Amino acid sequence: MLVDPKSRILGTGAYVPERILSNSELESIVDTSDEWITERTGIKERRVAAEGEAASDMAVAAARRALEAAGLEPGDLDMIIVGTISADMPLPACAAFVQQKLGCRSIPSFDVAAACAGFVYALSIGDQFIRSGSCKHVLVIGVELLSRVLNFKDRTTCVLFGDGAGAAVLGPAGGDGRGVLSTRLYTDATLAESLCIPGGGSREPLTRESLELARDKVHMIGGDIFKVAVKNLTSASRSALADAGLEAKDVDWVVPHQANLRIISQVAQRLELPLSQFVLNIERYGNTSSASIPIALDEAVRDGRITSGQTVLMCALGAGISWASALVRM
Ligand code: UT7
Repeated sequence: MLVDPKSRILGTGAYVPERILSNSELESIVDTSDEWITERTGIKERRVAAEGEAASDMAVAAARRALEAAGLEPGDLDMIIVGTISADMPLPACAAFVQQKLGCRSIPSFDVAAACAGFVYALSIGDQFIRSGSCKHVLVIGVELLSRVLNFKDRTTCVLFGDGAGAAVLGPAGGDGRGVLSTRLYTDATLAESLCIPGGGSREPLTRESLELARDKVHMIGGDIFKVAVKNLTSASRSALADAGLEAKDVDWVVPHQANLRIISQVAQRLELPLSQFVLNIERYGNTSSASIPIALDEAVRDGRITSGQTVLMCALGAGISWASALVRM
C-alpha cells in the first residue's frame, strides 16, 4: 500500500513551430487590424506548423523534452494520453502515432477530445491511473494543429488560434507533499454548437458544397463562450482549491488556458489574485487550445518562475463546453 498514492509532475516539455504569423500579416489576409486583435484578445502573434508537419510530430517533440526533464526513457512509460481535437487523422488516435514515433512498448495510448480543457482532462485521467496503482509513469500531452482547421476567410476565428504542443510526465509522488492535489472536470452541453467543427463527422459527411461552406473548419460564437468562461473558470478553480483545503491566497502561480486576456483578467479579479501571478504567453502564441497550459507551464518551469514545492493552479475552458481545473504542488 502506497503511503502517498497521488501522482507528481516529474518533467515538462513544449514545442512550437518556427513560423510566426503576426497580426499585421493577418491584416493582409482578412478584414482585421492589429489594434482590434490586441485590444479584444491580447494576441500579437501565433505559430503555424510547417507543411508536412503533423500534430504527432509536435507532440513527440514536446514529449521528448518532458521525458528528458523527468530523466526517463520512452520505454519507462505505461500510458500515453493526448488531449487534442486536431489529431493527424480521424482514425487512429494521435496518441498511437506518438507511441509509434517514441518507440514505446504496447502501452495504452488514447486521445481525449475535451478541446481547450484537453490537457487538464488528460492530467486528471493520468493521475487517476497512478493513484489506482495501475500505472507508474504516464505521458500527458496537449497538442493542436489548429491552423489546418481554421477558415482564413472568417476573421472571427482565424485570428485567435495557433499551433503548438506541451507535455508532462507523471509519476508516483514521493510523499513530500508535492503532486497533483486535486482536479475537477466538467461539461455543459447546452452550448455544444457554439464552438464546433460541424462537418466531416458522422453527422455531416463532407460534400463538395459543405467544403465550399468551410463546414470542415472551426465555427465559433465567441460571445456565447465568453459569457460563461469567467464564471466557470472561477468556480472550477475555487472547487479544486477547496478539495485540497486551500484558498486562492495559497497559490503561487496560476497557469490559465490562454484564450483571451480579458477572460484571464476577469478570473484574476474574481479570485482576488494579481495578474502578475498568472503565467501569460497569449501575446506570442494565441489560443493553442489543449496545448496552451502545458506550453505556459513548461516556459515558467524552465525560466525559473515556477520552482519545486510551489502551488500551481491550472484552469481551462473550451468546446463542449468542457472545462477543468487542477491544483498541483510542483
Ligand atoms: O478557447 C476556446 C474557448 N473560446 C473562448 O474562450 C473565446 C471566448 N470569446 C472571446 O474571446 C471573444 O468573444 C472574441 C475574442 C472571440 C470576440 O470578442 P468580442 O469582444 O466578443 O467581439 P464580438 O464577437 O462581440 O464582435 C465585436 C465586433 C463585431 O463587429 P460589429 O458587429 O460590432 O460591427 C465583429 O464583427 O468586432 C468584429 N470582429 C472583428 N473586427 C476586426 C470580430 N472579429 C474581428 C476581427 N477583426 N478579427
